[in-house]
Amino acid sequence: MAAAAVAGLSCVLCERTYAPEDVLYACPSCGPLGTLRVRYDYRWIAPEFQPRRLPRRKESLNMWRYYPLLPVGEGWRRFPLPVGWTPLTPAPRLRRALGLRNLHLKDDTRNPTASLKDRASAVAVVRALEAGYPEVACASTGNAAASLAGLAAAAGLSSRIFLPASAPRAKVAQLLAYGSTVYSIQGSYDQAFDLCVQACQRFGWYCRNTGYNPYMVEGKKTVALEIAEQLGWRCPDKVVVPVGDGCIISGVWKGFWDLYQLGITDRLPQLIAVQAEGSQAIRLALEGDGQLRPVKARTIADSISVDLPRNGAMAVQDIRASGGLAVAVSDEEIMHGVLLLARQAGIFVEPAAGASLAGLLKLLEANKVGASETVVLLATGGGLKDVDSVLKATDAPAAVAPALGAIVRRVEQER
Ligand SMILES: Cc1ncc(COP(=O)(O)O)c(C=O)c1O
Ligand SMILES: [Zn+2]
Repeated sequence: MAAAAVAGLSCVLCERTYAPEDVLYACPSCGPLGTLRVRYDYRWIAPEFQPRRLPRRKESLNMWRYYPLLPVGEGWRRFPLPVGWTPLTPAPRLRRALGLRNLHLKDDTRNPTASLKDRASAVAVVRALEAGYPEVACASTGNAAASLAGLAAAAGLSSRIFLPASAPRAKVAQLLAYGSTVYSIQGSYDQAFDLCVQACQRFGWYCRNTGYNPYMVEGKKTVALEIAEQLGWRCPDKVVVPVGDGCIISGVWKGFWDLYQLGITDRLPQLIAVQAEGSQAIRLALEGDGQLRPVKARTIADSISVDLPRNGAMAVQDIRASGGLAVAVSDEEIMHGVLLLARQAGIFVEPAAGASLAGLLKLLEANKVGASETVVLLATGGGLKDVDSVLKATDAPAAVAPALGAIVRRVEQER
């Protein structure tokens, strides 16, 4: 099975369709916001993709186990790092605290560079290898960059990263450690994005930008394929997703859509998009006329801080098709979500991922989730990527002299 499985690409804005060999990135008529959907011929895939024929060996427990549903050729066999097959954990204490007996956490902080973005970057790296590009590039709020940098390094490609100057230090450190060439753009993510597209055109680098590269949704969809498999090929009722550009949430939809089209599952989940109050263009579009308008993004959750979502049109269509909804949460609620997840489930996430739980709490307060519904919460990025926001949201540790007496006095004060 190879890239031949892709039957066509169709634009989310103008609905024109293209042959995959004719277009590399976004719709030529609509420009970078004309994200292309990747279409498959499921009749051709069905005999190749059968749950009972999926490999069982330990080495096959990674995202490539689904390769008949992925837009890559045999190049995936040369991919050196295991991405995906992250745990779907029940989190019993969090279940009790929330009163949700079928809650599951999909812990994508366990990916090689500690975020879900590795799933998309893996597809980008394999496609770049297959097409013979020596260099890959992307603009990112941080995780897509760190992930492209790490996976490119593992595969022997060089990477060029366009990062907004406001990116958290840990993400910058990841990039430098992986040996990327980093351009710290003195502007917003949106400006970095446009600049990266132009530079890729100029220098012939392979561009991984979200929304612009149509295959990133395909990589991200493996999270949904895994959730379904880990639930025994069942579809959850709701999937709660932190949303910035809207690519992860469209990936989740695409994965469940593929399984539904193949007749492996018998229904589709409701998508719950969680946005930061300071960056909620997708929620505003969903609750308004469906049109995306840029906002002036400002939130502690850097990964979901986006003025104009680059995969926004597709995300709005998908959330609507799922009968889902969007909620917005404040920075304070986001940090509460981070701490609750760490303290009730032992999973330390960055603020964007804490937003998932904050959004779920809001839905519970509004009685929009039933106690017996199967709900999957995506933990999309690890907490060590942004320690400053946690240090701000918690009390500094007590300074204590190195003597038992000092500890005793301290413990008594705590009573
Ligand atoms: C940890 C984390 N969560 C959520 C998101 C949001 O994903 P998207 O921009 O595809 O909506 C990102 C994107 O950078 C992320 O890194
Ligand atoms: Zn178009």
